[in-house]
Amino acid sequence: MASAMEPMPFNSLLILLLISSASVSIESKSEDPTPAAWPSQFHSILFMNTSAGKLQVVDLWYDWPNGRNFNIIQNQLGKLLYDLEWDNGTSFIYTLDSNQECRVLHFPVGVLRPNWLEGANYLGQQEIDGFLCNVWEKVDFIWYYEDVITRRPVSWTFYTGMVTHVMTFEVGAVLEDENWQAPVYCFKEHEKERSTVLESVAGDGSSGGFSLMRATVI
Ligand SMILES: *[C@@H]1O[C@H](CO)[C@@H](O)[C@H](O)[C@H]1NC(C)=O
Ligand SMILES: *[C@@H]1O[C@H](CO)[C@@H](O)[C@H](O)[C@H]1NC(C)=O
Repeated sequence: MASAMEPMPFNSLLILLLISSASVSIESKSEDPTPAAWPSQFHSILFMNTSAGKLQVVDLWYDWPNGRNFNIIQNQLGKLLYDLEWDNGTSFIYTLDSNQECRVLHFPVGVLRPNWLEGANYLGQQEIDGFLCNVWEKVDFIWYYEDVITRRPVSWTFYTGMVTHVMTFEVGAVLEDENWQAPVYCFKEHEKERSTVLESVAGDGSSGGFSLMRATVI
């Protein structure tokens, strides 16, 4: 089964991670702990440090039953960016200020599934942020830290070096429907603004981690 980890195009690995985690049949020792599936709906406040050392606070609204995921990204003393992801592969990345920036991206994959960590390799226990955690790694893309006792996520690190610290984890919290509407200027052509936002999203990795995941897939 080790052949599943043989070198292959990196994008293929990401697609495996994102859309078919259940089919990644790497056998792990049955006594190894497995990461808890994500609750189908939750709200988290995340503190993130990008690989470039830029800091962000991200409001993450994960809403699997409605096929949507929202990262509201406050860059330190900088841009407030809305990254709205739909399960049909469309992402709207926009500001709500007078600049009216919007970028529409299309991904071959939908939002992360609750079981997206299935098949991760168990690495043992480690203390992070003062919490004793079980640690897993998946396809050399993400290292995931889950509290041993509560089984809540505490932190994760992407291969880029971007580190996420989970500050709150409200299981069952749902953002009201009216907040999931991209602004009207997302539905027009604004090439100039679009490229500006794209640089801030994909260029320096300053977007939230999940849009980083998706952006890496294209
Ligand atoms: C952010 O990361 C950089 C390098 O990765 C580190 O030097 C810095 O102390 C970190 N900042 C915070 C607030 O964690
Ligand atoms: C995906 O769904 C969103 C929300 O309903 C919609 O605005 C968008 O146009 C859809 N994208 C495609 C490619 O159908």
